[in-house]
Order: sequence, then C-alpha cells, then structure tokens
Amino acid sequence: MADPKKLYIKTYGCQMNVYDSERMAEALGGAGYVETKTPDDADMILLNTCHIREKAAEKIYSELGRMRPFKEAKPDLKIGVAGCVAQAEGEEIMRRQPLVDLVVGPQSYHRLPEMEAKTQEGLKALDTEFPAEDKFDTLRHRAKAKRAPTAFLTVQEGCDKFCAFCVVPYTRGAEVSRPPSRIIEEARELVARGVREITLLGQNVNAYHGAGEGGDWSLARLIWALNDVDGLERIRFTTSHPNDMTDDLIEAHGTCEKLMPYLHLPVQSGSDKILKRMNRSHTAESYLRVIERIRAARPDIVLSGDFIVGFPEETEEDFQATLDLVNEVKYGYAYSFKYSTRPGTPAAERPLVDEDEATERLYRLQAVITDHQRAIQDAMIGRTVKVLFEKPGRDAGQMVGKSEYLHAVHVTDSDLLPGQIAEVKIIGSGRNSLSGQLLRSCSL
Ligand code: SAH
Ligand code: SF4
Ligand code: F3S
Repeated sequence: MADPKKLYIKTYGCQMNVYDSERMAEALGGAGYVETKTPDDADMILLNTCHIREKAAEKIYSELGRMRPFKEAKPDLKIGVAGCVAQAEGEEIMRRQPLVDLVVGPQSYHRLPEMEAKTQEGLKALDTEFPAEDKFDTLRHRAKAKRAPTAFLTVQEGCDKFCAFCVVPYTRGAEVSRPPSRIIEEARELVARGVREITLLGQNVNAYHGAGEGGDWSLARLIWALNDVDGLERIRFTTSHPNDMTDDLIEAHGTCEKLMPYLHLPVQSGSDKILKRMNRSHTAESYLRVIERIRAARPDIVLSGDFIVGFPEETEEDFQATLDLVNEVKYGYAYSFKYSTRPGTPAAERPLVDEDEATERLYRLQAVITDHQRAIQDAMIGRTVKVLFEKPGRDAGQMVGKSEYLHAVHVTDSDLLPGQIAEVKIIGSGRNSLSGQLLRSCSL
C-alpha cells in the first residue's frame, strides 16, 4: 500500500474554525490523508482562515507567498484556503495567488474529497456556496476515531444579528440550527469514543432553535436532553448573545447537573450610545439584569466576555462606562479587542477613534480585567474543584485539566490519566492557571 499523504492544517480564529479543522482532517482522512504537524513534509497545506482581525486577508496573502518554497521543492504539493477569508474573498484568492489550488468556504467542507481529487488532475477547485443540506452529517460518517476527553459539537451556524462591526453574518451566512436528533446522536457517538465533556458551538449558540419532536427546541431543551446521555459528564456552550438568554436557559444553569458553571456572554461595550451604534440591541442595564438573574440561578458561576474598544465615536466617557461595567460584573476571563474595520460592514464607513487613544484604552481595560481574573483565581485557593484531566503538563508526572469553572488546573500525580475526573484541592494560582493536589478519584 502507498504511504498515506500528509495534510498540514494551520488554524486561525475562533472555536468554530478549530472544530472545522478537525472535520476537514476527518473528511480528507477518507481521501487517504493523515495529519502532520509541520508544513515541510506535507502533500497538502490548508490555511483555515479568520476574517476578524484587521487586514486578515492581506496577512493570508503574505502567508501564501511564504509557501512558495514548499511548492518549488515539491511541485505536487496542494495548497488550499478554507474558512472565513475563503468565504469572503472567494475566487479573488486564486486570481491574486496562483499557488492556490483549492478555495473552500465553511459550508462546503464535506466536498473536500471531491475537490482534492480535482486538484490531483491539475485543476483548481473552488466552492464557497451556502448550501441548504446538512454538511455535518456527510462529514460525520467519514469521522475516524480520535480519543480525547473533550469535544466541540456544532449545533448552530451563522448569525442574523448584524452587529455594525461584525463580518460573521456575511462570511458564515444566516443563522441555521441543526436538528436536535442529529446532535444527540452525535453526542452519543462522541461519548462512545471516550468524550466526557461536550461544548456546544455556534456563533449565536443560544439562538438555537432546532426542529424536532414536539416542535421547536430551544438550547435549554437540547441541554436537558444531553443531560440524559449516559457517560457524558459535562456540558458547555459558546458563544451566547445577551438577548437570547431565555428564562429556560437561565434556569438550566441553576438546575441542570451537567451544565457547567461558566458562561461566555459578550457585551462589547458598557456605553448605551456605543451599543446602539453597534446595533447590539441591548443596553448596559439590560445586560446587567441578565447577569443578575444568572447569578441568582447559579451564584458561583464564572463569567467571561468580549469587548471592543475604540469603536467609532467612542469618547473617554463611553470608555469609562465600559470600565464601570467590568468592575460591576467582575469577569473571570475576558477577551478585549481594539476596533478594526471590516470592509463591507456598516461601521466601516464611520470615522475612526485616534489609534494611540484606542491602544491606550485597550491597555487600561486589560489591566482591570486582569485584576478581576487574578482575584477570582486567587479566591479558588483552598477550594475543592472537580477536574477533568485532558493531557500531560510540561513537567514530569504533571497532568492538566479543567475545573468546572474552566480554569486550567495542574496536578502532579503519576497515576492520573486523561479522561479522568478527580477532586482537587487548589493550592496555587499562577498567571493563567491554578495548581492543585489530588484528593481522591471520583470517577475513572
Ligand atoms: N457571536 C459572538 C462573537 C463573534 S466574533 C458575539 O455576538 O459576541 C468574536 C468577537 O470578536 C466579538 O465578540 C468581538 O468582540 C470581536 N470582534 C468582532 N468584530 C470585530 C471588529 N470589527 N473589531 C474588533 N473586534 C471585533
Ligand atoms: Fe457578529 Fe456576534 Fe453580532 Fe452576530 S451577534 S453579528 S456573530 S458579533
Ligand atoms: Fe474568525 Fe470566522 Fe470565527 S471570521 S472568529 S473564524 S467565524
């Protein structure tokens, strides 16, 4: 038998892309590829791109330029562009960079094997359509067993909210939810492969509304159904919109045993003026009320969020309102970005805040966020948490896993195995992780 061909995937952007890269590797596994960790010996290089950063497309063109020596050394090498830049730029990529053999949008990954076959005939392959069929099914049947205790499961894609700064509704298309029966079936398959924690994924995951038994299913109903899957120990979901935190979902945070006490709920800004201009359709006050209700349902929940600073027309006063909100919520973790223009979005037409001013605000915001993050981590010292161990740590005999609150926890104990859930007493708090001592194994 011929040696398998080697596939190198470089992933940029959000969890959607991380998940998609795994699915692409599985799909191409069916076409005889195995994954490799370096581009040097690859037969195919795929860039799974993100469009969210400033000049994202330009950076991909320069990255592609750097691939030239690989192609010169191995003329049979295939180079592909996937993800959100592929979706946004389409054919333009092949026009600007003749090295590229294949351009595939997020809705077409199940077609990769046919597309790859086309490239083997020396042709170019392009597919950036938004088809109606369920691409997940086709991909799943090609799936090869990969043992890991945690997995992502996409339940919803796309977004209809059109925040003024965001490219997702254009690159990922309209909101589409998968049927609950398929999600539950896939969750069972994942559990059979050793998965103990599933993170339900969607750009707007809590807008989930899958058609199933008894009509429309909400995300909460789906979570309750997954709560009944034997062997599945933990459920998480991301990313949520504040306006879609429905009563049943908030209640599930208080009562659903497998739903973990961590919630990523982006607010973007604390200023109502800016939120309005962002077309976010919530106010700082309505966001804080949602948080209050979630905390009433689950007092120990750890919250995280996303922020954009320097959005067009953001004044120092608007920025102060963001700091006030952060100080009120006290996030356990938060991502903050300096606003950057996405061509084609409504905000792209508006005057920019001074670059240095925006940079300075970003640092100030990050300093406040870090203070809260530290305080919340430090408060874990002395507490007992349950850790799902995922992989060996950097030091000998060390294992790393996640607590219920999504804190990374290091434990040194040579008997621990990936996939094990154990009670751990937290003894230290570092920059981005905690350390702990094993109390006893609660399930193997
Ligand atoms: N659906 C999610 C997140 C989508 S994108 C939500 O509604 O919040 C992830 C994050 O990237 C956003 O929350 C936002 O903070 C950031 N982001 C998106 N577009 C941006 C832009 N043009 N400039 C800076 N940050 C941006
Ligand atoms: Fe983008 Fe999220 Fe707004 Fe949708 S809700 S447009 S994905 S930021
Ligand atoms: Fe980026 Fe696309 Fe995700 S633009 S953040 S990879 S949906």
